[in-house]
This record gives sequence, structure tokens and C-alpha cells, in this order.
Amino acid sequence: MNAFICPLCSTSFSTENNTQICQNNHHFDIAKEGYLNLLPVQAKSSKNPGDNKEMMQARRAFLNSDGYLPMAQKLCELVQQKLSEQSAPHILDLGCGEGYYTHLLEKGLSPQAYISALDISKVAIRYAAKRYKNINFCVASAYDVPLSDHSLDALIRIYAPSLDSELQRLIKPGAYLFTVTPAPRHLFQLREKIYTHVNEHVSSHNAPAGFQKIQSVNVNYMLSIEAEQTLKDLIQMTPFAWKFNEQKMQTLLDEKKWEIECDFNIEIYQKEF
Ligand SMILES: C[S@@+](CC[C@H](N)C(=O)[O-])C[C@H]1O[C@@H](n2cnc3c(N)ncnc32)[C@H](O)[C@@H]1O
Ligand SMILES: [Zn+2]
Repeated sequence: MNAFICPLCSTSFSTENNTQICQNNHHFDIAKEGYLNLLPVQAKSSKNPGDNKEMMQARRAFLNSDGYLPMAQKLCELVQQKLSEQSAPHILDLGCGEGYYTHLLEKGLSPQAYISALDISKVAIRYAAKRYKNINFCVASAYDVPLSDHSLDALIRIYAPSLDSELQRLIKPGAYLFTVTPAPRHLFQLREKIYTHVNEHVSSHNAPAGFQKIQSVNVNYMLSIEAEQTLKDLIQMTPFAWKFNEQKMQTLLDEKKWEIECDFNIEIYQKEF
């Protein structure tokens, strides 16, 4: 079974050799790593949209150090709780990057769960698909997701863009949307090195149209970093990486050991019936 549908005509695929063919004969190759590229050329805003290789590698290296594991574990626990009654749920990780969280989600769900994941960055999906074989990865835009209406029991969105109308279209009535966003004190000790006045992140989010917020969980902890490379990876994957000029970076590196606050909000929304 392949849950993805044709991005051009929305019909289902059948597989022939290494190609997916829709009912109107549109062909899409399955890459050797096992993923599908379903991003139509005309939907690309640039030649290589999404995170580039350097950002993706920094994210993979940092996440591999398990610096964000406490948040990931809490998220997995909440997803498992909400899906505990379902024997074969279909979940989507929207903007999955290189697949770290998708894999943890998959490990915590029943083997019958069907896990789809997409990102607009081809390099991120290539890395993800190479490493995690039980997940259905595809290159596609979060604004035009190649999945059928009302096909998802849960959609997970960790720091990734989305459109309310797509969330509403994709998720089954009564099913769940999980979002992870930075809470006010996230990476405070890094941001105070850059800004004279650190603006705290906005902490409360309104429910997307058609959803009700049913739970909000804050995950806050101090992360001790001892390896300089891990600190550099963390900075490289933040939107303010470019604000660290050489001097600010050196001042930070001279500290040799870093205590950095991690602060996340996990929100759970339920789609109206
Ligand atoms: C901050 S990263 C988060 C990645 C992953 N969820 C994580 O937390 O490790 C944001 C991701 O969204 C992807 N992205 C940006 N615009 C997108 C779009 N229009 N559709 C799908 N993915 C997009 C980027 O390529 C990147 O992998
Ligand atoms: Zn088609």
C-alpha cells in the first residue's frame, strides 16, 4: 500500500518496477533510497527549496546528541496516549527534516501503524529515507500535501510551516494535530549573547480553524553541552546562526561548557466532528 497520491491529479498509485503510476498514467520514480519525489517542478520556489545540506547535517548531528530527547519523548508519549485505541493509525510528520523525530514516533507506535513523512528539502528526505526504512518518505510541499482528504489519525508538525486549510483537509474528524513550537525561554542563553534585549517567543497559539485545543504541555530543561561541535551544530540549526559574528562566537566558545535552556510547547488540537 502507498498512501501518497498523485500530486497532479490526486488519484492513487500502483507500483511497477521502481515507478509509481497513477490512474491517469503520471509516472514518478522511486529513488534508490526508497522515497518518492512528488514535488511538481512548477511548485518549487527555488532549485532546492527547504533546508540545505549544511543545515540538515547540523540538525542531524545535534539531534543525534539527544539534546532534544526530553521533548521528543514527551511528544511520543502524548501521541501514543491519543492513538492507544487504534490498531493501525496513519500518521504524518509534516516538515520531517532528516527524520529523527519520525523514527522515534514510529518506534513508539504499534507495528501496524502507517507512518508517512514529508519535507520540501530533497537532501533532508534522502538522508531520512536512507536511514529509516519503515517510514514512507516523500519530497513535497506542506502547502499541497499528496495525501487524500481525511486520511490521517494524527498529523505532527515540529517547527515546520503549514496551511490551516491543508490541516483541515487531511485530518479525520475527531483526529489529532500535534504541534511543537519554541516556548518563551527557548535557547535564552544563546539569544542573550546576540540581542541586548531578548524578545521572548510568543507562547500561546490559537487553534487552527476547524480544531479545538485540548491539551498544552510545556517541556523545559537545562541542557549541558560539553562538546564544542555540539554547540556549533545547535547554533547552525537556529534561525539566528548568521547573527553570531566571529567575535561573539569566540566569546561563547571561550566558556568551554554551556548550560542552555530548552523550552518547548507541545499543543494538541482535535479536529471538530
Ligand atoms: C526547522 S526544520 C524542522 C525539521 C524537523 N521537523 C525537526 O524538527 O528536526 C523545518 C523543516 O521544514 C521544511 N520546510 C520548509 N518549508 C517547507 C514546505 N513548504 N513544505 C514542507 N517542508 C518545508 C524544511 O526543509 C525543514 O526541514
Ligand atoms: Zn496523476
